Amino acid sequence: MHRLTSEETTLPPATSSRGLGRRLLRSNLLEALTYPHGVDRYVELVRPLLVKGEARAEVTGVRRQTPKSVTLSLSPNENWRGLRAGQFVGLSVEIDGVRETRPYSPAGSQHAAGGTLELTVSTHPEGKVSRHLRDHARPGMIVGLSQADGEFVLPDARHERVLLISGGSGITPVMAMLRTLCDEGYEGEIGFLNYARSRELALYGAELEELQARHERLRVARGFTRGRGQLLTGRFCREHLRAAISEHAGAATFVCGPPALIDSVRAVWAQDGLPEPAVETFTPPPAMTFDTDGAEGTVSFAASGREAANSGLALLEQAEDAGLAPDHGCRMGICNTCSCRKASGAVRNVVTGEVSTGEDELIRICVSVPVGDVSLDL
Ligand code: FES
Repeated sequence: MHRLTSEETTLPPATSSRGLGRRLLRSNLLEALTYPHGVDRYVELVRPLLVKGEARAEVTGVRRQTPKSVTLSLSPNENWRGLRAGQFVGLSVEIDGVRETRPYSPAGSQHAAGGTLELTVSTHPEGKVSRHLRDHARPGMIVGLSQADGEFVLPDARHERVLLISGGSGITPVMAMLRTLCDEGYEGEIGFLNYARSRELALYGAELEELQARHERLRVARGFTRGRGQLLTGRFCREHLRAAISEHAGAATFVCGPPALIDSVRAVWAQDGLPEPAVETFTPPPAMTFDTDGAEGTVSFAASGREAANSGLALLEQAEDAGLAPDHGCRMGICNTCSCRKASGAVRNVVTGEVSTGEDELIRICVSVPVGDVSLDL
């Protein structure tokens, strides 16, 4: 006899009160009733996760693996579009009335149930957001999320061997890759080489041991750059490489950590005539410079009916100078919060130097300067 499962005994989403609530929140009638502020302004006050325009997440768990980090479990709302292991997200919190955004690479598997995210944030003495999260994160707290971004991801076609090298908080994106491969039942060889200053500050130690015990072809090698380690001491070298993988040539290699670690790995790969490994570092991009001499054209802010002569600065600053207050977070092209539709005109990305001329395209106005006339939906 066919028994009703617990899923079958619940109402389908379209008719459940939750689904009905969601549809109501998206109706034109409600939008009209809440004009001019819009539904989200009111929803924000009672059910902040239900806002329709933004990806947000509720903190569902907080733990401290080391004295200098905090690990958050996050349950995103339905605006979140998921991620691939290795990508980063911008996490936004309000501190003293100011929205602050920082990029973090989630450490969980891309196959995590319900799209749950795990962020491990290392705290720094000057880290405003990391200290805030360490001191104030608690279950029930709501944070903002940008959609996932970044090219530091596993290729769709899995290689026979994967080598993951990390140092410090660089462990998070490669931990996501490792957990993803384990969830997929990957049968190739995995080398996982990780550096921390000391055993006390090493992240995910117990889980790595447990994963290694379960996966025959996973080899975990952990080094501690200060003090004696379990297997390895000191900094990256060929001996450490041999401890992690049978043969590094031909292994899909991902390196994340401080620039010195990345340089050492690159040097070995270059000596061996191997193609560059995929690398990611958390060093912030260099300060942006703007050539304001000879800036030409007019910037039109179509939605607000304002116009200003192009000053040569980033469009975010030009909008602020014109009295507008566009959403923004990192102001360095990472979090996507300032993303805005450009109706027409050409802009230059000050980080990459690329000029884009497309109409009706989304641009990050914190890193875009106009080249001639530009019209924005602001
Ligand atoms: S403010 Fe973060 S990308 Fe522009």
